[in-house]
Amino acid sequence: MRHAVVRRVALGVSGLLVSVALLFAWAVRLGTDTPAQPPDRLSSSAVADEGRRLFESRCRSCHDEADMRRVVRDAPDPGAARREMLAFLEHHGHCSSEERGPIVDFLRQGP
Ligand code: HEC
Repeated sequence: MRHAVVRRVALGVSGLLVSVALLFAWAVRLGTDTPAQPPDRLSSSAVADEGRRLFESRCRSCHDEADMRRVVRDAPDPGAARREMLAFLEHHGHCSSEERGPIVDFLRQGP
């Protein structure tokens, strides 16, 4: 009887230790996954550079950058403005489907 109780308590304690160890391993892994530099800052500046280059070669001949920024930035709902501009560019032409995203994102971010 006493042995059974001791064994059950021992089992419970070792189970708890395993859970703590797993939790710790998970927490440590989470810590190492986080890079020193926030990734979206790096990628957003890469998108902006690509978008600027594309805007200059595809759109600048007919459109002023500031005017285009106003179209996507000053809208009451920026998410909707982005979608609308992407849809507009699909018919407007002058750029490919892969180029549309970087161009619109460049216009939304900007200086
Ligand atoms: C050859 C000239 C030309 C080029 C190049 C061009 N556009 Fe246009 N764009 C126009 C003209 C003309 C209009 C006005 C008539 C219309 O709505 O189609 C216009 C209208 C627009 C509008 C709507 C204007 C507004 O105030 O809502 C947007 C947005 C736009 N263009 C974005 C772009 C983007 C982004 C590019 C580059 C991928 C581009 N355009 C390239 C001639 C051009």
